Amino acid sequence: MKGFTRLANTDFVFQEFESVEGSSVEQNGKSLIDFGTSAYLGLSFDITNEDLEVARKWGLRNHWSRISGNNALTRELEIELEKGTGIDCVRLAQSISLINLTILKSIGRLFDSILIDEDAHITIKLGTGVLSKKDKVSYFPNNDIAFLEEKFLSMSNDSKKLIIIDGVYSMKGNLAKVSRLLELCKKYNAYLLIDDAHGFGVIGEKGHGVIDSLPKEDLDRVIYVGSFSKCASNPVAFIGFNKELKTQIDNYTPCLIYSGPPSNLHVGISLRHFKNFTSNEFREKRELIKYFSKRLHHFCQTNNIKTLSSSDFPLLSASIKEKELENIIEILKRVGIFAKPAIFPVVRRGDEIIRFSLTAMHSLEQISTLESALYEARHLFNPMEIN
Ligand SMILES: Cc1ncc(COP(=O)(O)O)c(C=O)c1O
Repeated sequence: MKGFTRLANTDFVFQEFESVEGSSVEQNGKSLIDFGTSAYLGLSFDITNEDLEVARKWGLRNHWSRISGNNALTRELEIELEKGTGIDCVRLAQSISLINLTILKSIGRLFDSILIDEDAHITIKLGTGVLSKKDKVSYFPNNDIAFLEEKFLSMSNDSKKLIIIDGVYSMKGNLAKVSRLLELCKKYNAYLLIDDAHGFGVIGEKGHGVIDSLPKEDLDRVIYVGSFSKCASNPVAFIGFNKELKTQIDNYTPCLIYSGPPSNLHVGISLRHFKNFTSNEFREKRELIKYFSKRLHHFCQTNNIKTLSSSDFPLLSASIKEKELENIIEILKRVGIFAKPAIFPVVRRGDEIIRFSLTAMHSLEQISTLESALYEARHLFNPMEIN
């Protein structure tokens, strides 16, 4: 049995936890350190009385689908995101998956060719299903700028191209080469759509992910998809784009027309968090997880444990042989660790990995426990490239 079918009756997928407390979860009465969480800034439990007041004022949800009406709270967060990031227009949505699955419906027809990084998130790939002309779509090897340039050289410069990438590749934990891709965009008449689910809030001086320090002329070529769901464990996603795309995206993206925005409680919390992104408190959180990542990657390097990830991001990813999955999980659970494996169909066959996310809720002691577990399981990881 392969893929999800093989995993269906094991405890590797759709796991259940009896309780969650900070960076620990309880499963079958046993406490596990949660390295499967993506709540990077450790804000999961940050719900204040002020937030509850906001929800009492506005009600739990925008009362209308977006095409019918939008309350001022929803717009306030959109405007703050526009001012903060420098992107012309921002629209909230309930999840990045919803955006990814429907965005090509609205913008697909504007482009002659759509080039997707092979390691981009599965919801982007599934989102191409709405295109009537599927032959517009092609894939390029992860972060392979030379390959893309070669491809562009074979195309007319008049044809409009869209490159689609992840800001941080969530399986390997490596970063996209955004500046170099934008150089290509300017040279070859292309736009860049970035799914920055993991980068937003977590990387950059201001916490604005991989677009943190981009000049305005570069931002104008970007369609940016971000979310508070990873950085702050809060289901509030958004899409940002330049004003030329406004009509097309506002009028034709299903999740921005037929659905409401995220709940007022969640939007209120995201607004408070976003206003704090540049505070010392949030900078320190980002510094802490960067430190954890540097330490852990250094440990792996000195102990000859091969990682796929870069220490620039708080996620450690190692390649595994699918047949070793049970052994690895068994070792991890025995020492009290929960982590996320990814196998086909989430990743391509042969690209199976296990990932450990590092958050501001973790302690140094928990990082040391992870180091010991990685050491114990080191013979089970695939010897692949070291970053
Ligand atoms: C790169 C990437 N995009 C999108 C998603 C899905 O995000 P959401 O939960 O907002 O739908 C994930 C979730 O793991 C992700 O890693």
